[in-house]
Amino acid sequence: MSALAPPAGCLISFEGIDGAGKSSHIDHVAARWLARGLHVERSREPGGTPLAEALRELVLQQPMDALTEALLIFAARRDHLQQRIEPALAAGAVVLCDRYTDATFAYQGAGRGFDRAVLEALERWVQQGPAGLRQPDLTFWFDLDPAIAAERLSAARAPDRFERQDRAFFERVRAGYAARLAADPGRFVRIDAARARDEVAAQIDAALTARGW
Ligand code: TYD
Repeated sequence: MSALAPPAGCLISFEGIDGAGKSSHIDHVAARWLARGLHVERSREPGGTPLAEALRELVLQQPMDALTEALLIFAARRDHLQQRIEPALAAGAVVLCDRYTDATFAYQGAGRGFDRAVLEALERWVQQGPAGLRQPDLTFWFDLDPAIAAERLSAARAPDRFERQDRAFFERVRAGYAARLAADPGRFVRIDAARARDEVAAQIDAALTARGW
């Protein structure tokens, strides 16, 4: 094993409100370890398998009530876990996932105000495995003021059902992420996503290096 590598079979998620700019940094982390010869898999939620990508299209584009939305997101997660994440982790890959369950608690829970107990029940059904609930080993939370995120998003493509939400929605989502971090501080690294791109990358590198990864 080369120096500065995460343990084999490690799941890392990347979270934040829309417009926080996670995507290019996921590439950056992947490149860090691909260059060292590690088996790295990149994926996203909702999505990551043909079925889950089809569900993603529905969730992002079709009008639906909050329970339907939560059920489809967890259905996508179930397929993604079974078909892609668990096999990759079992094969020793480092899996980099653009969003995972924290997004459900932040968007459906805090953002939409959907019943947290129902989300927790669905989480148990969907993520339970032999070693307990499958959660990320590390989560980067790209924290950004929704006002700045909205400016970044306005230049982007046609907004989906979430990107069309108002500022207050994203304030609640942000607070939802903050609550997730407060409940499990050892798993999270908060990134100040208002900084310039290279400074954000430096924050990520520092957190990984501090872990010996
Ligand atoms: P996103 O990850 O931002 O992808 P892109 O950069 O292509 O827009 O889009 C996914 C959207 O789905 C995002 O607005 C958040 C939402 N989402 C939820 O509401 N709940 C979830 O559990 C997940 C995984 C995503």
